Formats: sequence, structure tokens, C-alpha cells
Amino acid sequence: MPLVTPRGFAPIEPVDFVPLDTLPAVGPRVGPGVGPGVGPAAVDLPNDADPRALAGRFDAIRLIRIPFPKADDGRGFSLARRLRDLGYRGRLRAQGHVISDQFRYALDCGFDEVEIDDGHAQRQPEAHWRSDAGRRSYRDKLRGRAAPAAFPAPADTHAETVTEVTHYTDRLFRFRMTRPATFRFRSGEFVMIGLPDAKKPLFRAYSIASPAWDDGLEFFSIKVPGGPLTERLQRIRPGDTVLMKKKATGTLVNDALTPGQRLYLFATGTGIAPFASLVRDPETYEKFGQVVLVHTCRTTAELQYGVELVAAAKADPLVGDEAGTRLLHYATTTREASPRMGRITARVESGALFRDLGLPRLDPVTDRAMICGSIAMIKDVKALCEAAGLTEGANNRPAEFVVERAFVG
Ligand code: A2P
Repeated sequence: MPLVTPRGFAPIEPVDFVPLDTLPAVGPRVGPGVGPGVGPAAVDLPNDADPRALAGRFDAIRLIRIPFPKADDGRGFSLARRLRDLGYRGRLRAQGHVISDQFRYALDCGFDEVEIDDGHAQRQPEAHWRSDAGRRSYRDKLRGRAAPAAFPAPADTHAETVTEVTHYTDRLFRFRMTRPATFRFRSGEFVMIGLPDAKKPLFRAYSIASPAWDDGLEFFSIKVPGGPLTERLQRIRPGDTVLMKKKATGTLVNDALTPGQRLYLFATGTGIAPFASLVRDPETYEKFGQVVLVHTCRTTAELQYGVELVAAAKADPLVGDEAGTRLLHYATTTREASPRMGRITARVESGALFRDLGLPRLDPVTDRAMICGSIAMIKDVKALCEAAGLTEGANNRPAEFVVERAFVG
């Protein structure tokens, strides 16, 4: 079982790894012979750990090992970066599914080495891990086509690295990528996304699903069979490059609404993406007493992203207290039996939505709304808001509801 290092393969020395919870709460003081990275412990850190839990204890740790349990789970890359940002200077080891193509990126994220098993070392011997720009990449071999020519990123774009990809169904997937230090946006806005596979790459609008404070960027996308961008975007893997134009914009932002007691977020399908950003932003809870996320999809599997989102918001150290008590989630399906069936529109019209949640019907005095879905869905939900007396707003004219199309790549 070798250790891959920038100098080549090395044998793995025996180390006793301890779980995180056996470490003392505060590390030893730094003194002669005790400094960052020379502490006594070697720690196994799960890839969903909060690195802030370790801050203050770095001096007690000389080696942190982070698992990569599956090929499409790149959470360890973001975790490594955060540990380095927080000041960890000891050894950092990735263990498991890191392939040679990702080695350069792993080092960039702050890893020193990768622990692989003997089978992996046989499939990808030492030479594969050495930088060799002319070689066809492992991903390209998997895709069965020649490596695309390397095109420089156009001047008005950022070239970012994919860190995680999750496929929910054969129609929906989510990915995270690195965020440029200079990139600013308001929660709920969208950017133009493309792939670096042409001199003039094709860009499509994507709502940013992560909140403005997050140090990574998240997107939730549909896979359109034969779609000009999503047909290829759905094949990205951690370590790949995604292009992003430098400017974010959009109307589904807190600034475009006047203050109110309750914010309804009406979404169908991937229209939930901008709301995934807003429900994780503390500003949303400062402006509204209650947030009601209403999501309709064809099937239960398509609702899963929203279920995970709401669970994550309620557990989040930044907004968990607010989301725990003030974020309501109302999910319905239209083409598969589930506890709540029917389109959003039908459940608003019948009053079932309000009855189920114990809330009064839409009222312009107390309620604000954001709508994101297909053109037909927007038209229908907008008509319901207007019938209830709500007025459409915009960035330069805040009012009671705003709309934006869920983008399709
Ligand atoms: P339906 O199954 O009745 O078409 P899609 O997957 O096609 O993007 O649709 C996402 C969800 O939005 C589906 O559950 C779909 O219901 C629903 N939907 C489609 N059109 C409308 C509309 N005009 N108003 C409300 N919901 C809609």
C-alpha cells in the first residue's frame, strides 16, 4: 500500500490514527519542541467534519487523514483547503479515491500525500502521478475520446475547479466548485457557466445555490438529453475545470422585496437553486419572520435535493437556530404518489397549502413571494400572487413578489 508524494511513491510508515473525539479539547501550548505540525496525534477526520471544531487544537496534531470514500465525492478537497485556511500546518493526507489526474489539485488544496491501496497502485503506477501535460487523461480515457485541446479561459471568465458532484436522478445533479477570492454576489443571483472545451465556449445561466458567505460555489442542474451544455456538464468530475463569467445578477434577491412577515419561495424542479442560497443566508431571516419553501417535482427522488438542503440549513452553525424554527418546507409531487400530491398552483388555489401549514391565505400586508420555475409555472403562480393583491418588484423598485425563470442548460 504506497503513499503518493510529490517525489514519487513511498512506503507507508505504521501510524496509529485516532478518531477526532479522542483529542483533548485544547491543544498543548506551543513551546520549544512543540510547534505546529509536530503535535503527538495522527487523526482520522471524516470528510463531512466541521474544520472549525479543530481550530485551537492544531498544535496537538501532526497528521490529519481525510477519506475519499467514492470517486464522485470530493468533499475532502474543500475540507483540506479550509483546514489550511484555518492555519493547520501539519501533514495532510488524502486516503482512497483520488486518481492521478486529481493529484495536482489535491496538492493545491493543501494535501501533502495520498494513501492508495495496492490495486489502485497497480492500475495507476508511479509514472501516472507525475505531471505529464501531453498525456491523455484518465477521465478522457473513461469517456473514450481524445483529450480536448486546451483552450485558454476567455478574459472575462474565472476558471474554477470542481470539488464535488452528486447525481440525484438521471435528470438532476448538483456540483460544487472553488470560488474565486474576488467573486462577489448576492444570495439568489445567477452567473453564466461554461466548459473550457472551445475557443468560444458556450455559456448558460445558472443560479448559484450556495449562499453569499460560502467559500465554495454550488449549482443544481438538470441534464437535458442532447442539451448543448448539460449533455457535457453532467459528466464533470472532481478536479475538472468549469468556466464562470465574472458578473452575477438576478431578481430573486432580498433587496428586490419590501420587508414582510413571511417569505414564500415557490419552486418547481431546479427552480429551487436560488432558494437554496437564500434559505442559508442569515439576511433572509433578518428580513422575514418566517420562510416557506414550496417545491414541486415530478417524483420523490427529484425532491431529495430540497430535503437535504433544509436538513443542512437547520443544522448549519450560521443559520441553524433561525432555520430550525422559522423555515418551513412544503414539497409535492405530480407524477408519483407521495404524502402531498399536485402542482403548487392547485394547492394554492384550493387552499390546501395554507391549511396544511396552518397559515392564512396570501396577503399583501404580511406576505412576500419569489417564484422560480418554467415559463408556464411562473405565469400561473404570478397570476395567483396578483390575484391575492401582491405587486411585482425589481431591484430598482422593491415590491411584494419577484420572478425568474429556472434556467435550462
Ligand atoms: P406536471 O408533472 O403536472 O407537469 P418539469 O420536471 O417538467 O420541469 O416540471 C417540474 C414540476 O413542475 C412538475 O411537477 C410539473 O408538474 C410542475 N409544473 C409544470 N408546469 C407547471 C405550472 N404551469 N404550474 C405549476 N406547476 C407546474
